[in-house]
Amino acid sequence: MSHNSFGHLFRVTTFGESHGPAIGCVVDGCPPGLPLVEDDIQRFLDRRRPGQNRFTTQRQEADKVKILSGVFEDAQTGGQVTTGTPIALLIENTDQRSRDYEEIKNVYRPGHADYVYDAKYGVRDYRGGGRSSARETASRVAAGAVARKVVASVKIRGALVQMGPHKIDRAKWDWDEIDKNPFFCPDAAAARFFETYLDGVRKSGSSIGAVIEIIAENAPAGWGAPIYGKLDSEIAAALMSINAVKGVEIGEGFAAAELSGEDNADEMRFGNEGKPIFLSNHAGGVLGGISTGQPIVARFAVKPTSSILKSRQSIDRFGRESEIVTKGRHDPCVGIRAVPVGEAMVACVLADQFLRHRGQIGAGPAWPFPA
Ligand SMILES: Cc1cc2nc3c(=O)[nH]c(=O)nc-3n(C[C@H](O)[C@H](O)[C@H](O)COP(=O)(O)O)c2cc1C
Repeated sequence: MSHNSFGHLFRVTTFGESHGPAIGCVVDGCPPGLPLVEDDIQRFLDRRRPGQNRFTTQRQEADKVKILSGVFEDAQTGGQVTTGTPIALLIENTDQRSRDYEEIKNVYRPGHADYVYDAKYGVRDYRGGGRSSARETASRVAAGAVARKVVASVKIRGALVQMGPHKIDRAKWDWDEIDKNPFFCPDAAAARFFETYLDGVRKSGSSIGAVIEIIAENAPAGWGAPIYGKLDSEIAAALMSINAVKGVEIGEGFAAAELSGEDNADEMRFGNEGKPIFLSNHAGGVLGGISTGQPIVARFAVKPTSSILKSRQSIDRFGRESEIVTKGRHDPCVGIRAVPVGEAMVACVLADQFLRHRGQIGAGPAWPFPA
């Protein structure tokens, strides 16, 4: 059984545990000739990196990536490019404090994967959650940076749109705000409110959930592989595979159930250049599992951090009931650092779907379609 890989033509395998020597990934199937240096990957890892402000875990990981294979000097430009061979990316773990976990090695932390790993494998690296730790998501972000090279014309951006019960004001959405606050929040006023709100949550030793929205613009119409490789179903699976994600929506998502057919179905007209356009985007850029050319819109709900300073009831592996307070360093709202992870997963799915589309269809039909 091997379930640490995803994708078909753009295939990513991740490896490593939270407190082992290193984590990383192998990206297989990346086309040759794409410029790729460590900085191209590092800038995305830096956005996910912990310890950057008081709203994320104080674990200080440098998250420095090394490219071990799959790149070489380009004869024409002299720059470093992908060779088409597997790209191995390594990120060393440098700030493990395994003693934080000594007390809880036999107790199942509520909301964590401890019990089910024991139930399934009978053996587990308990330090920091081992393989179930969200440290693994750094590898996804690294793979996502490579994927972005494959679909360079597509702009893939994420934003935190809700924290706990508090939604942003979508009328105040400004992409330029995303990198100006610690929450990847596009609404400056909401970001100011989240500072006070999350301080309160953190000081009370608790945690809170969040909703993240990912928008991919400029993907052409035609990507996606019905019936069992639909673009929306693969995006949903990719986002759902991120730690702590408990729900995914595409376009209107669950709200579509409340709409009438005339309100939900996106009407069509011809745009200025005589090409088809849609008058709305309730579909979230996907119809029949195939991209429409509209922005692809996905949202996912992240549960509140399970490791909190409040005492919780649990059991240990020797059959005793116990109380547990999870010490160690944790994010009060893991949804924040899930933003770059969500972007990366969408990038990987799009890169894979693009290559599969190109493999089966080639350039594809151009508008106007043949009569
Ligand atoms: C970026 C990121 C960081 C996370 N950090 C923590 C953390 O500090 N403490 C914690 O309890 N859970 C954290 N989680 C969530 C756990 O990894 C996750 O809840 C746990 O492995 C159980 O898996 P599940 O929630 O997917 O079922 C994080 C999740 C993400 C996406």
